[in-house]
Amino acid sequence: MVIHKVKTYRNMSKKAANIITAQVITNPASVLGLATGSTPVGTYELLAEYCENGDVDFTNVKTVNLDEYYGLDANDEQSYRYFMNKHLFEKINIDIRNTHVPNGRADNIDEECRRYEQLISSLGGIDLQLLGIGHNGHIGFNEPGDSFPKETHCVDLGESTIKANSRFFNSIDEVPKKAITMGIGTIMKAKRIILLASGEDKKEILKKALFGPITPSVPASILQLHNNLTVITTIDL
Ligand code: PGA
Repeated sequence: MVIHKVKTYRNMSKKAANIITAQVITNPASVLGLATGSTPVGTYELLAEYCENGDVDFTNVKTVNLDEYYGLDANDEQSYRYFMNKHLFEKINIDIRNTHVPNGRADNIDEECRRYEQLISSLGGIDLQLLGIGHNGHIGFNEPGDSFPKETHCVDLGESTIKANSRFFNSIDEVPKKAITMGIGTIMKAKRIILLASGEDKKEILKKALFGPITPSVPASILQLHNNLTVITTIDL
């Protein structure tokens, strides 16, 4: 594990964008695993800027997102597909057909989970996975539980996640209760992982995740076992 302690959110975003850019320059057909939430927004802004300046070319890049709410259409402003289009895909020269997010409106959720897992395998796996961390230690929507889920699966969102995410909705009742997420196994198979965390409110959980016992009650703690994990954080650990 390599930990980069940085001063500001902007510094964190720059380091992450630089690593992703280096990955794409080194392998122009990279498979990038992407995340939603407030944390990676600055990284995506910078990637759009680098692309605009001609410093990085996403023509042959493929992306797979970690998760999606179940029940929301791609055009719904709260869906993660909408978020990714708005914050990144519309601003870079990627072929939208090469961008993948689980289908939140699939008729058969289990089939959709299987399809998504197979899709990732068929792309040859993830070269670089970008991650944030939830206040309860979740990665993707892998909520605290009794075991580490292996593959893409359907989850019931935890109370704290619903509460945290309600800030993007008109009311807490509008937050979907279910989601589709890559499994912990899917994430751990990524060749490289970049974990971003900023804000003092994440300090306690980040410490637990990186230095505490490896336990499914803190899903991110499994990352301690990954052999190519880079943590970029504004937090003093
Ligand atoms: P945030 O979410 O970036 O909005 O804090 C992180 C997460 O829940 O994974």
